[in-house]
Amino acid sequence: VKRHPYLQPLSDDHHRALVLARRMRRIAEGTADPSTLAEAWREMTERFASELEPHFRIEERWLFPELEAAGERALCERALTDHARLRALVSGAPGPEAAGEFAQLVDGHVRFEERELFAAAERLLEARRCAEALRVAEGVREACIGAALAGYEDASIRGVCHEGAWETAVGAIRSAPLEDIVARVVETDPRSG
Ligand SMILES: [Fe+2]
Ligand SMILES: [Fe+2]
Repeated sequence: VKRHPYLQPLSDDHHRALVLARRMRRIAEGTADPSTLAEAWREMTERFASELEPHFRIEERWLFPELEAAGERALCERALTDHARLRALVSGAPGPEAAGEFAQLVDGHVRFEERELFAAAERLLEARRCAEALRVAEGVREACIGAALAGYEDASIRGVCHEGAWETAVGAIRSAPLEDIVARVVETDPRSG
């Protein structure tokens, strides 16, 4: 799946997490040797601390609150439950069962986030992009109407005929400083009205 640029780094983490999960599953299923398992477990907890825990924090700090605010509470609750269970597993006792559960949970969690949660996040980002584009379009329209009316009035005052004033109005729209107008609209926080 091609991800939104905001989400791509998190998707890259997911890919690495899946590789780690696959390895843990192989070890959980394939080895009875306690030292092999202990070694794999140690490596897994290190990678959890350096890769997955920071990933969870980014999701919990930046992604889930936005999604919750947009009405996607159930998705966030499921993700948080998975995070909590994974943290508990990693800080708990090692063993083939725990390794197997870790592998299965990471696998399921990543698939859930990619298919449902990130899909919802992308819909939200797209909706915001459209809303912002519309806001800019409205601002430009307002500015153009203002420029046209001012041009028409100015020409009329100078005694220009109706046709000439009309041309002046259209000219004012043509030469409206789009960059300044857009900059002004973008600067205005839509939430403050
Ligand atoms: Fe997550
Ligand atoms: Fe994630």
